[in-house]
Amino acid sequence: MTPTLSTNQMYSNTTLASEPAAKPSLVADKISKSFESGLINIQILTDLSIAIMPSELTLIAGPSGCGKSTLLSILSGLQFPDQGQVWALDQELSRASRRELEQFRLHHTGFVFQGFNLFPALTACEQIELPLSYLGLSKKECRERALQALHEVGMGHRVDQRPAALSGGEKQRVAIARALAKRPQFLFADEPTSALDAASGQTIINILRRIAHAHGSTVLCVSHDHRLIQHADRVLEMEDGVINRDWRASSRTQSHHLPPVPTQEHAV
Ligand SMILES: Nc1ncnc2c1ncn2[C@@H]1O[C@H](COP(=O)(O)OP(=O)(O)O)[C@@H](O)[C@H]1O
Ligand SMILES: [Mg+2]
Repeated sequence: MTPTLSTNQMYSNTTLASEPAAKPSLVADKISKSFESGLINIQILTDLSIAIMPSELTLIAGPSGCGKSTLLSILSGLQFPDQGQVWALDQELSRASRRELEQFRLHHTGFVFQGFNLFPALTACEQIELPLSYLGLSKKECRERALQALHEVGMGHRVDQRPAALSGGEKQRVAIARALAKRPQFLFADEPTSALDAASGQTIINILRRIAHAHGSTVLCVSHDHRLIQHADRVLEMEDGVINRDWRASSRTQSHHLPPVPTQEHAV
């Protein structure tokens, strides 16, 4: 399937500061979502349209309750919109079956959440190997990919540690490595720094940005933490279910401007 949306349709509700030449990898066109609460119908997203680009970190920033997690779950195929269309590469997620969405999420997406979601009994390396095994990879390939991903996030020296021995920032780096090891085209992060101190949060957001640049992945992060804004390539400001500002930090588009990932024990 090929997206049939015109550029005007795709961008109809957004004001893009300076649009790069690349094709968007993720497009939402006039999506709406509401939830029933007792007898009341609460409108969460209203006619929202966005086009997210590959190879950069896009941050959707806005206050708690404005609809960020709902938007992320619709863009990542976890929920359907009530109205409107969502396209990921050449697939229309808003019309896919539940089975197609499962396949999309399994093969093309990685997720990072505020709470890390690590298994207490598993080492850092095993946290990553386990989901990789569901992709049908050999044990050797799972191990190699896990080690490579842990090195990439600066956790090569902590591969045999269990979560209890890791700091919050280190746990989040393991969670990012777990998502990264799948080599997904899309990496979605929901409040990935909210449980962390400022320095750890900065390291995490820089790792996410580095991944977008190094792998050409589409990295989409939602957060109410305004400290992250300066670290994103592009910022979409959201309020009350609509995007009301869209801007990009064109002076910081090269990954070599990023500080190195710390590797010392408890650095994050
Ligand atoms: N499944 C649901 N059922 C009912 N209300 C929901 C549901 N999910 C989210 N909401 C409501 O939608 C609003 C936006 O939620 P959310 O997308 O989580 O916002 P954010 O991530 O910006 O804090 C909130 O008022 C929340 O209570
Ligand atoms: Mg949320």
